[in-house]
Amino acid sequence: MNWLITGGAGYIGSHVVYETLRSGRDVIVLDDLSSGIKSRLPDGIPFEEVTLTDRDAVFAVFDRHKISGVLHLAAKKQVGESILHPDYYWEENVVGLQNLVDAMAANNVANFVFSSSAAVYGQPDLKFDDLVDEAANCAPINPYGETKLEGENISEKCAANSDFSVAALRYFNVAGAGKPELGDQSIFNLVPIVFETLDRGDRPKVFGNDYPTPDGSCIRDYVHVQDLAEAHVAAMEFVENSGAIFMPINIGTGTGSSVFEVIDKISQVTGSTMEPVSAARRNGDPAALVANVSRAKEMLNWSSKRTLDDIAKSAWEAWQFNRK
Ligand code: WQD
Repeated sequence: MNWLITGGAGYIGSHVVYETLRSGRDVIVLDDLSSGIKSRLPDGIPFEEVTLTDRDAVFAVFDRHKISGVLHLAAKKQVGESILHPDYYWEENVVGLQNLVDAMAANNVANFVFSSSAAVYGQPDLKFDDLVDEAANCAPINPYGETKLEGENISEKCAANSDFSVAALRYFNVAGAGKPELGDQSIFNLVPIVFETLDRGDRPKVFGNDYPTPDGSCIRDYVHVQDLAEAHVAAMEFVENSGAIFMPINIGTGTGSSVFEVIDKISQVTGSTMEPVSAARRNGDPAALVANVSRAKEMLNWSSKRTLDDIAKSAWEAWQFNRK
């Protein structure tokens, strides 16, 4: 089976590429290298430097390669940036996706694994210890989340109209590194932000300590990127063996960690003694967002194996490796 992996030169994408190769499948990587790093990829892998908004270029990829399935990870994913540039996010994440699925349909490629996000849930009205399941109301509260929900809607139509077999993986908070050279080098999420703050000798900021949670800080479901990569292989197995279907699936651990807990874990791992400082809440943050992961177990026979400690240790090792 020959899988096209869009965004395969990215932090998550490169982990998925290695895990897909380990599963015995062949891989072609498509990436526009706007944030991806080609040197993350193994030598000799077929590579297409293409922007998904270039429709003709996307169709040409399917002329050059025999493709049996598509893993679509290429997208813009910064919530703050999406608020400032909603049209740009719509163009990149929705128009780009439409070009891709149109090229798939034109070439009778029906196996599709779509990188979706917990951002589709927005701010569900849940108590801090409630788990969110895939049947929950999807009401994204930022343009990034809206593009991911629209991507799911488009994928669902493909299943209905073109017999696509689709797994839409709703990523929760991804962190850690499968190996140091694949670490997250962007500084848009809590764990790398804390590393950078500690490197500067500053105190990590906690955006809000008055949420209705045990320690007052927000709770999230932090899933190791290597667990996530393994979930993608399980999702490929699932779509390869399903007929026309659209199946959204939470990819998380089912266990929440607060911001204070994450920062404390990072302090243990890095040996830092910097005390976090509480700051104002950040707009749009739900108090808690933790996955119900029973569908992933049932449909993919997948569940996370790695802990917050594994995340912090692997992320810190990668951070030190990549800042040389
Ligand atoms: C986590 C928690 C912050 C920085 C976003 C996307 C989501 C997914 C993951 C792609 C929040 C708090 C952060 C800091 C802090 N991305 N925080 N101090 O917002 O949960 O999710 O990234 O799919 O779709 O929405 O992740 O890492 O930004 O924040 O207190 O310096 O850490 O308020 O509670 P988030 P995050």
